[in-house]
Amino acid sequence: MNKQILSSMAIAVCTLLFSCSDSTTGMNSTEESTDSFTTSSEYQGRPINMNYEDKIDSLIAEMTLEEKTGLLHGHSMFTTKAVERLGIPELKMADGPLGVREELERESWAPLGLEDDYATYYPAGAGLSATWNTELAYVFGNSVGEEARARNKDVILSPAINIIRTPVGGRTYEYFTEDPFLNKKLAVPFIVGIQENDVAACVKHYAANNQETNRDFVDVQIDERTLREIYLPAFKDAVTEAHAYSMMGAYNKFRGEYLCENDYMLNQVLRDEWGFKGIVISDWAAVHTTVNSLKSGLDVEMGTPKPFDEFFLAQPLIDSVKAGKISEEEVDKHVKRVLRLMFTLNSMGDTESHKEGSINTEAHFKDAYNIASESIVLLKNEKDLLPINTQEISSIAVIGANATKKNALGGFGAGVKTKREVTPLEGLKNRLPSDITINYAEGYQERYAPKKEAKFGEVTQSRTETIDELDPQLLEEALEAVRNSELTIIFAGSNRDYETEASDRADLSLPFGQEELIQKVLEINPNAIVVMIAGAPFEIENISKNTHSLVWSWFNGSEGGNALADVLIGEVNPSGKLPWTMPKKLEDSPAHATNSFPGDQTVTYDEGILVGYRWFDTKDIAPLYPFGYGLSYTDFSLSNLTANQKEYTKGDLIQLSVDVSNTGAFDGKEVVQVYVSKPNSKVERAAKELKGFAKQAVASGKTEQVTLAIPVKELAYFDASEMKWKVEPGTYKILVGNSSRNILQETEITIK
Ligand code: BGC
Repeated sequence: MNKQILSSMAIAVCTLLFSCSDSTTGMNSTEESTDSFTTSSEYQGRPINMNYEDKIDSLIAEMTLEEKTGLLHGHSMFTTKAVERLGIPELKMADGPLGVREELERESWAPLGLEDDYATYYPAGAGLSATWNTELAYVFGNSVGEEARARNKDVILSPAINIIRTPVGGRTYEYFTEDPFLNKKLAVPFIVGIQENDVAACVKHYAANNQETNRDFVDVQIDERTLREIYLPAFKDAVTEAHAYSMMGAYNKFRGEYLCENDYMLNQVLRDEWGFKGIVISDWAAVHTTVNSLKSGLDVEMGTPKPFDEFFLAQPLIDSVKAGKISEEEVDKHVKRVLRLMFTLNSMGDTESHKEGSINTEAHFKDAYNIASESIVLLKNEKDLLPINTQEISSIAVIGANATKKNALGGFGAGVKTKREVTPLEGLKNRLPSDITINYAEGYQERYAPKKEAKFGEVTQSRTETIDELDPQLLEEALEAVRNSELTIIFAGSNRDYETEASDRADLSLPFGQEELIQKVLEINPNAIVVMIAGAPFEIENISKNTHSLVWSWFNGSEGGNALADVLIGEVNPSGKLPWTMPKKLEDSPAHATNSFPGDQTVTYDEGILVGYRWFDTKDIAPLYPFGYGLSYTDFSLSNLTANQKEYTKGDLIQLSVDVSNTGAFDGKEVVQVYVSKPNSKVERAAKELKGFAKQAVASGKTEQVTLAIPVKELAYFDASEMKWKVEPGTYKILVGNSSRNILQETEITIK
């Protein structure tokens, strides 16, 4: 989809309730229970194809036990085993969330070094969520799905949608958000987009994989209500709305059982309650048993190099069947699921209509650009120093190693080999008039303390230690460039070696001496613009106090540098909003305030439902920048909030309308955010919870009416004692604003 179409669209992001049919939950319904309702959004996936059952039965009847188990485990790093004589192909998989990973050796993590496995590098998860744009989530999924298809992959190991529980999480940059509502509203279109290309999404990591520390064995304890309200909603909608064809079982344990052999999570919740018909694929080397894994709901075991026939679901499974420890019918059940998936993806059956896909196209780079350009968050612009007036300057100092840092590769499964990654410096060179002199100086260096070398792909639990002293000569060169230039932009933040899978950060301090560099630059030029490039929060209170202009960008894909330059010069008006809370200090964050991170053998999520802004707002702790926050070059005001009724019953839709006026000089987009609060609730509640949002383009001087529809069932809490969702009758406040802390319009409704 091109930029013009996107920007001219009024992107109404709503939740809609269409039907009230029954349910995959198998739970009793009562007066107030909402389990009997199914929601339906504008993005609906195509279910698994169940039209080949007879064909599948006859194939299974012809297969040997060895051939059957070959479908249930890795036979190379990223494929299962084919049964050529029966026309059953390998199931071919590839990472990952930022684009299709390069080809690796069949039996090791070593890249093959091919010339034809380049791919588009898309913005990392936190960047996508900062767009608050469900249409762009669909564009992302569809674009990367086309690339996966072009690389002949059946499964892409994406999206990664675990809730961001702690800002130090190694995969915070890769995951979407701290909020379950924003999470599910982005996950569904993303998955639908992928799967329109005869490619299965593999939604990961199911579930409660919210830290990297001790992820191989840590036992996560979450109370049932918190699990249902915070950690599962996006996984649930991935199944019930998007019809995700596969799920990845996480490394860690949940309530004492590994997630790849967790009967409760895999059989009871995923399949029996949600009606999941796809396959459960293990994370790589996350399986620990044979019979128990299979019986508990795992379908395919993938893993790291060791003889593939030694995998738990390989020879040990054959032996277990022969020893009568598990029946061949049980094996058949899992084989059937894999075959159904192959028929659904047209890699068997109707292979003539198999899609072809496309890769590295200008259209895909444009998709990456569109996402990046809506993701950038303007945190501060006190003296209106931004956008840069290119007519008035002749020289710019560009300071900081992040101006030239590339972030496509790295981070294990989230790395992408790409031919195009426009850095911030290149973006400025592309976009600034050629008569402006750019004085670039590195300023700080990305340096690490020596550490025990981890083998490629090996998980270490050690924290990355950085060298934080500035090199005096580099510092001097930077300050000289600042003195010699009319305008200064500092590109700071982190990178994907520092924020990475397999380890969490020790703290939120800015590494490599950047804070000192920024302070010294600001002493010379107090108007220097600071641009942070990172995927997760840092402690930047001092920087924020001392600078007039602060911009937040992400690991932002192939076109990240162009998008950033366009925002800095005002070609694009920033419309990104933080998908997580930026705390003033780490200890303010819920998992840290409750001293319940990272645990040791066990981690108990003591903050319960109060994750992210739910904690900050309920406990009245001021964040540095709140969830949902982000400025624009123009000003917006909200007015005339109305609800279509005063009173609702449980099957109703609450239809809201609010006017968004652009009172400034630039065209722009605002994200209208609807939070709901239940005063005097009989159960614990967060001060407010996001229940709707809409990104709306408004031309300068104009007003647009935004309508949002919130199903009453979205107001339910989970009653763990009865294992039911319940909507509490009474008065609710509808709070509409442009961050969790900036509520501009308010009304009350009653649920009968
Ligand atoms: C990661 C997954 C990834 C897999 C395959 C694991 O270490 O947790 O997200 O898809 O490796 O590379």
